[in-house]
Amino acid sequence: MVLQTSFAEIRGNDLYIDNVKASDLAKKYGTPLYVMSEGHIRHQMNELKEKFMDKYDKALPLFASKSFSCLAIYKLAQEYGIGIDCVSAGEISIALKAGFDPKKIYFHGNNKLPSEIEYAISHGINHFVIDNFNEIDLVEKIAGELNEKVYATLRVVPGIKAGGHNFIQTGHKDTKFGFSSHFGIYLKAIEQIVNSENIVFEGLHAHIGSQVFDLYAYISAMQKFMGFVDEIYDKFGIVVSKVNAGGGYGIAYNKKDEPLDFETITSEIMKVINGHYDERGWDRPAVLIEPGRYVVGNAGITLYTVGTIKEIPDVRTYVSIDGGMSDNIRTALYDAEYDGIVANKAGETKTKTVTIAGKCCESGDIIAKDLPVTANIEAGDIFAVFSTGAYNYTMSSNYNQLPKPAVVFTYEGKSKTVVRRQTFEDLIAYDVEENY
Ligand SMILES: Cc1ncc(COP(=O)(O)O)c(C=O)c1O
Repeated sequence: MVLQTSFAEIRGNDLYIDNVKASDLAKKYGTPLYVMSEGHIRHQMNELKEKFMDKYDKALPLFASKSFSCLAIYKLAQEYGIGIDCVSAGEISIALKAGFDPKKIYFHGNNKLPSEIEYAISHGINHFVIDNFNEIDLVEKIAGELNEKVYATLRVVPGIKAGGHNFIQTGHKDTKFGFSSHFGIYLKAIEQIVNSENIVFEGLHAHIGSQVFDLYAYISAMQKFMGFVDEIYDKFGIVVSKVNAGGGYGIAYNKKDEPLDFETITSEIMKVINGHYDERGWDRPAVLIEPGRYVVGNAGITLYTVGTIKEIPDVRTYVSIDGGMSDNIRTALYDAEYDGIVANKAGETKTKTVTIAGKCCESGDIIAKDLPVTANIEAGDIFAVFSTGAYNYTMSSNYNQLPKPAVVFTYEGKSKTVVRRQTFEDLIAYDVEENY
């Protein structure tokens, strides 16, 4: 049995999620269905709080809400007192609607639109992770017009390659994100901010990539950052008062993945930063982290109904399910690997190897390749794919006009809908008929 989750277990021949039978959830809410364990999300958020926020002075964990964004998750984050990272006015609007404290929202993004900057500042968001020179000009102008101050951390590229796939590596030289640490570029940006009227320079931000399993990558990024902190002090006489060490903590999608321990990552980060500041006799800075996948990734299990089973002799057996790349693009996008099980035959030995295929019109619409399953798999079975909590719902689409699945939370033997399933009406909700 390969279950990456503590809240999911097999009893008899059935998969249970937070003590709710998976096939009952499928019956009650229909499939495809995103099931998210509220118990697991709470556990992870509590870790951020107890093992980071409460443990260190001036520490603030941010939940990277691009990984999973809806009213219910912002309400949970608010309950634990942690902050959030938002990358668009859309995410911010949902967080605010959920009652999230604007002072704990950090606004990210490599191309924040003037309208988004105005929206954020006028709604009380004043922490910006500034990415580029154009943004400095825009924020300076718009903050001035609104008579507000913006507190800036600068996204600086440490020049480190880490992360599970090229598309999710962000800390190396050739990236669209952040200021280069070469040719004095980030120092020019700081100079511009220091000379601005409406932006207050606070510190630096690094995000080296996602699905990272290399502890040394975090340590060396922070060591590089301490070099930048010294450069800033030498050039401007400013002691950097905030360091955001980013997110990217890898989770286990299958047996091969070996995630780092949360406290090991954070304590190593803190050791580098605090050690450096203590050596110089400086006040320690505020330290932020911003994991997303770590909080919600393993909490998600997607339930599908099995349809067509196509056996191509000497090639492979395709098991088609009633969803696909429209609800989980990660396999097609990053060659992500998923584990899964027939939820209603979960106790049976896995003697057959199949490929789980979606129902979208793309050959690349595959969810999991070469997965061992019970030889009794048949149409009508419920197939559960594990660890789908991050970047599945938020990356979902209506490709082939498939309605988006509902999101259901489970907790202590109960379940509730937090995002309802789309209807055919929803598919045309934005269509209009106008005359020229
Ligand atoms: C700036 C930044 N911070 C945090 C994250 C969260 O990464 P993860 O979900 O892998 O922790 C991302 C992901 O893309 C990011 O770009």
